Amino acid sequence: MQDFDWWQHSVIYEIYPRSFQDSNRDGIGDLSGMARRLDYLVGLGIDAIWISPIFPSPMADFGYDVANYCEIDPIFGTLQDFDRFLEEAHHRGLRVILDFVPNHTSDQHPWFLESRSSLKNPKRDWYLWRDQPNNWLSSFGGSGWEFDEKTGQYYYHSFLKQQPDLNWRNPDVKAAMYNILRFWLRGGVDGFRVDVMWLLIKDDQFRDNPPNPGYRAGLPSSHQLLPVYNSDRPETHSLVTEMRAVLDEFPGRVLIGEIYLPVQQLVTYYGPDLKGAQLPFNFHLLQCAWNAEALAHSILSYYDALPAGAWPNWVLGNHDQPRIASRIGAAMAPVAAMLLLTLPGTLTLYYGEELGMTNVPIPAEQVQDPAEKNEPGLGQGRDPERTPMPWDASPSAGFTAGVPWLPLGDDYPTINVEALEQNPSSILHLYRHLIRLRRTSPALVHGKLKLVAADRHLLSFQREGEKERFLVLLNLGYDSVQLPLVNATVVISTYLDRIAESVNGSFEIRPAEGLLLRLP
Ligand code: GLC
Repeated sequence: MQDFDWWQHSVIYEIYPRSFQDSNRDGIGDLSGMARRLDYLVGLGIDAIWISPIFPSPMADFGYDVANYCEIDPIFGTLQDFDRFLEEAHHRGLRVILDFVPNHTSDQHPWFLESRSSLKNPKRDWYLWRDQPNNWLSSFGGSGWEFDEKTGQYYYHSFLKQQPDLNWRNPDVKAAMYNILRFWLRGGVDGFRVDVMWLLIKDDQFRDNPPNPGYRAGLPSSHQLLPVYNSDRPETHSLVTEMRAVLDEFPGRVLIGEIYLPVQQLVTYYGPDLKGAQLPFNFHLLQCAWNAEALAHSILSYYDALPAGAWPNWVLGNHDQPRIASRIGAAMAPVAAMLLLTLPGTLTLYYGEELGMTNVPIPAEQVQDPAEKNEPGLGQGRDPERTPMPWDASPSAGFTAGVPWLPLGDDYPTINVEALEQNPSSILHLYRHLIRLRRTSPALVHGKLKLVAADRHLLSFQREGEKERFLVLLNLGYDSVQLPLVNATVVISTYLDRIAESVNGSFEIRPAEGLLLRLP
């Protein structure tokens, strides 16, 4: 795969650092803990690690409220720990992608402290201050505007009031943020996942958003309005292009954007002449109903929308979304793994997906996530998908010698890395096989995607490279399906039996089975 950039044939693995591995008994994961688990990641076969924010933060939104972009929060370690982690990762051939949170800072960031100190402060215009609020809402509930007693104006926050939005129309803000990118790029990081890329810039006239005709009771309050004037503004693209240009000052780095938008808008983030984000995250599988027709439609509409030369990517889980095994059922999780790992382009896994980890119910008194605290019971809470990685069956699952910051799932004595390692037909082994196959069969990474089809519960497609041709058959139902198939060889079944079985004539796919077949 020499003709491709590393990120094009990568499986990226998202680590939510609070929950991966603790090393100092405080019940919260850290960099030294993560470093200890690098060999596990090498064994899994992934290529790159994306770490959710590890910068100093009051943790109002667990690191997505950054108080210093060029340091490491003591909860996670020190800059030296990070350098060591990076070196050890690189030494093992793993790339490291950091989370860049440019839309807002913490309200404790020195810039904001200065900005709110007086109307005349040179940093006043670094944030969005107004005499009167408009109707824009916070994604975490309530108005997006907070009144500041001392200076008598309101500031805008897309998320918590502890997360004031920066003013990306101010050239000094841009320069400061681009220098932060350079700081980490010089330090050797391989790229960035940019938080809420599509929200970066707001309407310069601060026009009110129109009501959302689709709103109904029970939805989060932020859905009451359509985010016309505070998201996906045309000016965002020049910022993305500028960020990309900063990354291009350094060879071989990748810019990934977190973007929740319909495909037609999403793909504009590749930028003019593909000079925007190399990978605008494609969350459409993650939001798609789990049936063959909807998935086929999602895959095809994304594919059709991709600009010429744009590189596809797919995501099934992240720290903001219910875990896939909970969404579709644990029995179906292996089929999701096969779907993801046989699609073309770059793939992103969320830690624990390879164990079939499910959402962990969080008792009300243990809720941590502000999204849940602010608007309880609407299903916004993200703690259930952020619980500690279960490594073994010991107390606290080998995650910590202290008390874990979020509870472990009840099933951790059986669903943990050590136990699944020992079971050769576990989902963990399936992930390993499938990831390894992408290395040995480049047709799976960059071969053509053909004949995407849905037939009742069966989703199928072909992958065609120069030397190899594969057929992927995914039974999304719980009944067997009989197929009139001739002349193919099973490369792998999600049941992890049938390997190398040759198939001739009529053929059965078992309930919730995925099959990867080699065609002659
Ligand atoms: C992104 C992050 C999410 C965070 C929000 C505000 O959506 O993924 O976890 O709460 O931005 O920074």
